Amino acid sequence: VNAPVPINVGLLGLGTVGGGVAQALAAKQKAIAAHVGCPIRVTHVLVRDALRERRVAGGAVITSDPDEILDDPDVRIVVEVMGGETPALDYVQRAIHAGKHVVTANKELMAKHGPEILANAAEHHVSVQFEGSVGGGIPIIGPLVRDLLANDITAVNAIINGTTNFMLTSMAGGDLDYASALRRAQELGYAEADPANDVDGIDAAYKLAILASLAFRTRVHADDVYREGIGRLTSADFRYAEELGYVIKLLAIGRRNGSTAQVRVHPALVPAEHPLAKVDGVLNAVELEGDLVGWAMFQGPGAGSDPTASAVVGDILEIARALAGGGCFPVPPALDGDVTLLPMADIETQYYLRLRAADRPGVMAQVAQVLGDRQVSLASVIQKEPPRSDGSAEIVITTHTAREAAVQEAVHAIEGLESVIEVSNLIRIEDGAR
Ligand code: NAP
Ligand code: HSE
Repeated sequence: VNAPVPINVGLLGLGTVGGGVAQALAAKQKAIAAHVGCPIRVTHVLVRDALRERRVAGGAVITSDPDEILDDPDVRIVVEVMGGETPALDYVQRAIHAGKHVVTANKELMAKHGPEILANAAEHHVSVQFEGSVGGGIPIIGPLVRDLLANDITAVNAIINGTTNFMLTSMAGGDLDYASALRRAQELGYAEADPANDVDGIDAAYKLAILASLAFRTRVHADDVYREGIGRLTSADFRYAEELGYVIKLLAIGRRNGSTAQVRVHPALVPAEHPLAKVDGVLNAVELEGDLVGWAMFQGPGAGSDPTASAVVGDILEIARALAGGGCFPVPPALDGDVTLLPMADIETQYYLRLRAADRPGVMAQVAQVLGDRQVSLASVIQKEPPRSDGSAEIVITTHTAREAAVQEAVHAIEGLESVIEVSNLIRIEDGAR
């Protein structure tokens, strides 16, 4: 009996994720061959610096020449774990043109070019899988394109950046300050090559663009997502949030209401008893509401070598099993829904406002007047005694549900009050998330 012919894989990238993928494929080769019906073999690995010493089990060729992989007819699956838009987009499109199947963990690529890549793949009868691009090891793309396809999804609330969730958890617990928490997240392999992508909310916005496109079956581009990072949060915000019964999370929020939708990434106060408030450290979670399933929540490690390798290798196995079984791949879901995205000014939520003002009579009344004039109603006010050494007082206000445009206008007017020294922070409160 002839031995089954292996399925050859070309790996683009051998960093945190690529290294984990190579290691998992090598360590589990026997079980994988049993699942698939034939072995899976990494034949080539693309890196920038091919002279640096690295070990890949199985004797794969390490190269800095992408043509060695993209022009090799024996490579059936290309796994893109390099990151970035260029040259990853070119390599992925070339692989598809050459009839190769693609697995990628690159959220930037899929958020910016996903629909074109999937259309190209359909034209060339190959599969593109991207489970590792959102939520690290959490299965969420598979459920959206398959298990939940019968649903109309109206809400997505997600924590989808492991680096910032790790940082916020460490900062809230008083364990690490911002800089040390970021450094630790980098050491643990959670952060992007440029960690500004994590802390500025760019990575979460890419992931929300992918999730919202699939959930709302429309094209949501990364640039459509409103975005704020975690850079303005201070220990005072964590303290007040706890006092008010909240936890601060970087939330990715998508809502669909008929033909309109909103997509936004920003820090948010989440009630301490909400399931998302308990998602700590590098864990991520995506909760969504479908008309059939109701609320469902997916949770697990959102970054790191092994968890992301779990998702990427799962995608490789799905393709390999289809190839071994005759090569039938489902068409990607259509993203042709007619949905208009609401401008941020039109969203409605609750707010937390922290400001510093002169500690004298009448100041709070002035601030309340500015808010009231714009139909922003107060839910609570905290003023700390004794006043600060410079004679100023810190005031924290929470509001009932109000329109973003009205709140922004009020903040601008409050900043202009003679008695107000600064508006230190404005954070949205997501109380009605469920
Ligand atoms: P990484 O550790 O920086 O590794 C990148 C790898 O790609 C390196 O081996 C690098 O080569 C290679 N590479 C980069 N640009 C290249 C180019 N132009 N030509 C040839 N090789 C190139 O990155 P990572 O953390 O593994 O992330 C990879 C991708 O997975 C990114 O899209 C990221 O967003 C995504 N992702 C990461 C995680 C995570 O937890 N880290 C989780 C989910 C998804 P050298 O080794 O020679 O530098
Ligand atoms: N930098 C990303 C994060 C990696 O921290 O979530 C996982 O996509």
